[in-house]
Amino acid sequence: MYINNRILVGKTAEAKELFILPEMANRHGLITGASGSGKTITLKVMAESFSDAGVPVFLADVKGDLAGTAFAGEVNEKIQSRLDNLKIDNFKPQAYPVRFWDLYGEKGHHLRATIQSVGADILSIILGLSEAQEGNLAIAFAIAKDEELPLNTIADLRAVLQFIADNRADYNTKYGQITPQSVGAIQRALLQLQNQGADKFFGQPMLEIEDFFQTKDGKGIINILDSVKLFQSPDLYAAFLLWILSELFNKSPEVGDQAKPRLVFFFDEAHLLFNNMPSYRLKRITQIVKLIRSRGVGLYFISQAPTDIPDEILAQLGNRVQHALRAYTPSEQKTVRAAADAFRTNKSFNTEQAILELGTGEALISFQNEKGAPEVVEKATILPPQSRMGVITTEERNHIVAASPFVTKYDAVSRPGQSNTITEPGKKFDPNQAQAEALAKYSPGNFKKDEVKTTVAKTPAKTTARRGKSTGEKAAERAVVNAAGTASRGITNGFIKWLFGKK
Ligand SMILES: Nc1ncnc2c1ncn2[C@@H]1O[C@H](COP(=O)(O)OP(=O)(O)OP(=O)(O)O)[C@@H](O)[C@H]1O
Ligand SMILES: [Mg+2]
Repeated sequence: MYINNRILVGKTAEAKELFILPEMANRHGLITGASGSGKTITLKVMAESFSDAGVPVFLADVKGDLAGTAFAGEVNEKIQSRLDNLKIDNFKPQAYPVRFWDLYGEKGHHLRATIQSVGADILSIILGLSEAQEGNLAIAFAIAKDEELPLNTIADLRAVLQFIADNRADYNTKYGQITPQSVGAIQRALLQLQNQGADKFFGQPMLEIEDFFQTKDGKGIINILDSVKLFQSPDLYAAFLLWILSELFNKSPEVGDQAKPRLVFFFDEAHLLFNNMPSYRLKRITQIVKLIRSRGVGLYFISQAPTDIPDEILAQLGNRVQHALRAYTPSEQKTVRAAADAFRTNKSFNTEQAILELGTGEALISFQNEKGAPEVVEKATILPPQSRMGVITTEERNHIVAASPFVTKYDAVSRPGQSNTITEPGKKFDPNQAQAEALAKYSPGNFKKDEVKTTVAKTPAKTTARRGKSTGEKAAERAVVNAAGTASRGITNGFIKWLFGKK
């Protein structure tokens, strides 16, 4: 609940209020705890209060149990007894302004990024490329840039790879060794990625990050990315998080310390972000986490144990909620000890013991005070959420999506230049038709999956000829590669290069 300009999260048994100060909310945060201990509900309670404070929120809904935020909750017996415990008598169930997003374009606005914007480095991670293959992918990006070939969709990238393999003799000296083996391996990995449905994510119209920074009637919009299906492809999920983090950083102006953050971002299952991450990359992510604070963005990581998060990142997370952990094995005991050691000790209880004894929806809490120092740890009962807990029906979801102003912008089915439609030459974008199509897609009872066709760019027979091409022929090929792709080019993202460039 948002009370007296503070984000109230929980109370101690002595009714001491534990709140995040909005001006300290950009000092980032961490919510940890065992399965079923109450992490998601804590996230939800925080997200609601940020919205009440006029702060937009972005969160990934990994289990589909955050979608209910769009509808008012109800005060049942359990909630009433929690409220009595907390001595709260002004609790009002309410719905929050929500926008649904989906990388697959099925359960929310179609959230896409161009291949160009995601960049060779993040792609190499998702594709699991070897060093040599990574090098060839980087060459494909460099040649696409120099030859002005579009790189919006996976089909675009495949066409460019085909082009550089066919013309490698002309490019080897300037760009480095292009080998058919490496290009072949990248093509196969891309095909696999396409089979996982990833080409729904790559393309246009690309997400404009400013669309996350919105308010409605004074409340921050809560942007919910449906990640139920996405979570089945952990590599794509991690790649998306890396990309969105760099987008946020790159496109947010420096604002310094503010009375409240411009956006709060919740990373659920955050350990996926750090799996197998080489140290130079981690160093740079740590830098972003540090720097993004002064751009008014607060990052909140959610995971089972603090040990899932690298120490360098952990040191940056000022607002902490630790739910119950279990400790049956020696390694679990070590985890609990580490979690306890992260807090400023409260003389009235043993931190380690308390972590083991917490009930559902109870937690150890330490938020930053106005001086930016962590408060002494307290044992708290977390507030119940004001919006509905749990999942929603397809009809309810469609209703919210259809009512959003973004439905025309991101969900028009036959928009020219979109990732998975053929661009018909001369066809103009008709906003009325687009809106009608998008609304039909999200009308209750009319919800169809996979209704758009995937286009694979055709490489003309000419490009398979290995030798002796004239400049004119190559220019013609380039034109074809261009036409196979979409109309406009993404901007080269220097930041991503900086982020992922080797030392
Ligand atoms: N603050 C709370 N107020 C009311 N009920 C709560 C609260 N916290 C937890 N609960 C109850 O406990 C259940 C489990 O909580 P939650 O889903 O947040 O756990 P979790 O830690 O996210 O688990 P998992 O790791 O499996 O996702 C909720 O569905 C809800 O019924
Ligand atoms: Mg959860």
